[in-house]
Amino acid sequence: MKRLLLLVLLPVTAVAADEGQIRLKEGAGRALVESNCAVCHSLDYIQTNSPFLDRKGWEATLSKMVNAMGAPVPKEDVPTIVEYLSQHYGK
Ligand code: HEC
Repeated sequence: MKRLLLLVLLPVTAVAADEGQIRLKEGAGRALVESNCAVCHSLDYIQTNSPFLDRKGWEATLSKMVNAMGAPVPKEDVPTIVEYLSQHYGK
């Protein structure tokens, strides 16, 4: 199932690979998000999902990225990332 999702996702990611364009909002933790969250997909995933995710939603997304997708986010950086995302991209 996950493998299938990845396969489906890859062409989309390739087309949207214009990553240089995306600037996240200024704030503590932005650099962490940019370095940890653009490895597998564009940062526009964050912008696109901001109307739907509150703090709880971002917490769940973070643990999904880490536990299900295997994102190599250092444990100590998770709270800073969640804080940044819920402040700047929370609903
Ligand atoms: C190891 C690869 C990987 C990393 C690193 C990663 N993601 Fe993802 N992310 C994915 C995949 C694969 C999907 C698509 C999953 C799906 O469609 O269910 C996804 C989807 C998303 C979505 C869309 C909503 C959802 O739940 O599917 C958001 C938002 C998101 N990622 C945020 C982040 C954030 C924030 C980070 C940094 C902490 C991050 N991702 C790091 C692999 C990754």
